[in-house]
Amino acid sequence: MTTPTPAGRPGIVVLVSGSGTNLQALLDAPDLGCDVVAVGADRDGIEGLRRAERAGIPTFVCRVGDHPSRADWDLALAAELAGYRPAVVVSAGFMKILGPAVLGGHRVVNTHPALLPSFPGAHAVRDALAHGVRVTGCTCHWVDAGVDTGPIIDQRAVRVEEGDTEESLHERIKVLERDMLVDVVRALAAGWKAEPDAG
Ligand code: GRF
Repeated sequence: MTTPTPAGRPGIVVLVSGSGTNLQALLDAPDLGCDVVAVGADRDGIEGLRRAERAGIPTFVCRVGDHPSRADWDLALAAELAGYRPAVVVSAGFMKILGPAVLGGHRVVNTHPALLPSFPGAHAVRDALAHGVRVTGCTCHWVDAGVDTGPIIDQRAVRVEEGDTEESLHERIKVLERDMLVDVVRALAAGWKAEPDAG
């Protein structure tokens, strides 16, 4: 069950760990069909949280180090998320593996900067470059208990150019990644409208 926002649209919660440009794309998207009701992070002092604050969206920080164990952190994050009753949780550059409490209570979409199932994990762009692939890209997928193993929702391809660095390639991937994430969330929200009890 989800709670419609004051605007009558479903709510989503976005999890971030860094600059939050994917979050910003969701905040700026016209006709998203849902509202970002909160932004959560695993650390303080990041631009992703500042973007949310500038947009007047509630934020929360749930640090692994503030909990006696990873399992306790998972439970705390699940409880924090549940308070917002999101239709989905979007992991947009959230650099932590989610645990069973979060995944048992929420449907989670992740965005990943490689063409899964190639190059899962935290260094996907570096790994793709080191492997010498000529085409890489980004993937939006449902999160399951594995690392970047859940069902694929959408993908976009990016050519690797001569002289690319991890940074230059990642920036070009992120341009497509933001569009992909907006398209995926918009399509999901259109489905919720068709089936108001879904989610
Ligand atoms: C994205 O490429 C995401 O897939 C990866 O980290 C990047 C986050 O970018 N895990 P931003 O914080 O949304 O700018």
